[in-house]
Amino acid sequence: MNNEDFLYYQKLLVDHSGLSLSQDKIYLLTTRLDPVARSLGFAKLQNFTDELRKKPDTRMVSLVVQAMATKETSFFRDNMPFVHLRNNILPSLIKRNATTKTIRIWSAACSTGQEPYSIAMVAREFLRDYPGWSVQVMATDIADDALAHAQDGLYSHFDIQRGLTMKVILDHFNMENTKWRVQDELKNMVRFGKFNLLKPMETMGRFDVIFCRNVLIYFDTPTKKSVLDRLTDRLNPEGYILLGACESSIGLGARLKLSADMPGVHVPATTVAAPKEIRK
Ligand SMILES: C[S@@+](CC[C@H](N)C(=O)[O-])C[C@H]1O[C@@H](n2cnc3c(N)ncnc32)[C@H](O)[C@@H]1O
Repeated sequence: MNNEDFLYYQKLLVDHSGLSLSQDKIYLLTTRLDPVARSLGFAKLQNFTDELRKKPDTRMVSLVVQAMATKETSFFRDNMPFVHLRNNILPSLIKRNATTKTIRIWSAACSTGQEPYSIAMVAREFLRDYPGWSVQVMATDIADDALAHAQDGLYSHFDIQRGLTMKVILDHFNMENTKWRVQDELKNMVRFGKFNLLKPMETMGRFDVIFCRNVLIYFDTPTKKSVLDRLTDRLNPEGYILLGACESSIGLGARLKLSADMPGVHVPATTVAAPKEIRK
């Protein structure tokens, strides 16, 4: 791929998904886009690139974004966020949301579904002691292939054994040939949809908890700031934002601070009380 085409893809990816691709990724770009070009009947990647540059068709752009997205994930990835959810976050929301008896959680870059289903497993077990309550998990991603897998809810033995004990597997999955399918009760707790974090978020409504993990690392600093800021607007007062293990809001000017008692969990920064007026 020549440098001009690389710069074209670099801009296309930043504009459409936020992915900030450094110059040394030219080989990665070629190896990921080659199969896309062939799947659409182009003999060579160059023909696909020429066609795209002539007329940036929405489907072709979407396939490029999808091919370049890193979708690495696993059930209960990094574990601690799910421990905080079970031990601290859900118990405090049970006190706070007593009138609605509903808790809304957003998995904002859900990849192939392991994250939202992990959230749902925690919630399903927790809610056994709280009849009449519901936890609604909204799970979104930009990549159609990842979403289709997530919605299907069918996982290989390799996927399942990363992060799940046999008891958890038997409690939440049914065996189907050599694979494992999430049980209907779990699936019904999760709603999947396509959503690009670069787009306006108002239509998503408000959430008590937002998981936005291991996606900000692929964005440049202004995009990270913008996404975090708009996610903060989607939080109910005293909600929680959980980022990936190597991600933080520090230095992004975000209206968030780290929770004092849950390392790694962000909460809205409380406004500093204005000093009382001095009465004369
Ligand atoms: C590395 S996976 C993280 C999955 C999961 N959150 C986790 O931590 O295991 C990153 C996901 O972000 C998605 N993604 C990338 N850019 C996005 C965007 N602009 N809007 C929404 N999702 C995006 C990718 O398609 C991919 O599925």
